Amino acid sequence: MPNDPDVRPEYEDIQVDIENDYSTIFIGYPIWWGQEPRIMDTFVESYNFEGKTIIPFCTSGSSGIESSSANLVEKAGTGNWLSGNRFSGSATEDEIKNWISGLEID
Ligand SMILES: Cc1cc2nc3c(=O)[nH]c(=O)nc-3n(C[C@H](O)[C@H](O)[C@H](O)COP(=O)(O)O)c2cc1C
Repeated sequence: MPNDPDVRPEYEDIQVDIENDYSTIFIGYPIWWGQEPRIMDTFVESYNFEGKTIIPFCTSGSSGIESSSANLVEKAGTGNWLSGNRFSGSATEDEIKNWISGLEID
């Protein structure tokens, strides 16, 4: 079934100890059909984000981030999630740096 919300594609071991080595995590993805790609669900369901700040960001043609970030918050179940940001595929480095410098993170 195309666009099945229940599929959980696997990803390769990223060789990073997210739970022990990081307190702030940026999670970036493209918007597909108004949502996060399902592999992002696999990712957020794989970790305990308790005590961490999570900042989602996405690229898209025009869709906003709200629906996908709400999904990720729900699927993760843990973590202090900031509202995040949507960028166009042609976002510049300056645009991204400005966004990061305006975030209230350590
Ligand atoms: C399968 C697929 C579905 C997509 N669905 C949407 C969508 O619903 N809304 C949207 O704004 N962009 C959509 N896009 C565009 C992507 O979000 C965009 O290509 C991606 O963020 C990367 O940007 P770039 O192609 O400019 O590099 C889709 C792209 C693909 C491949």
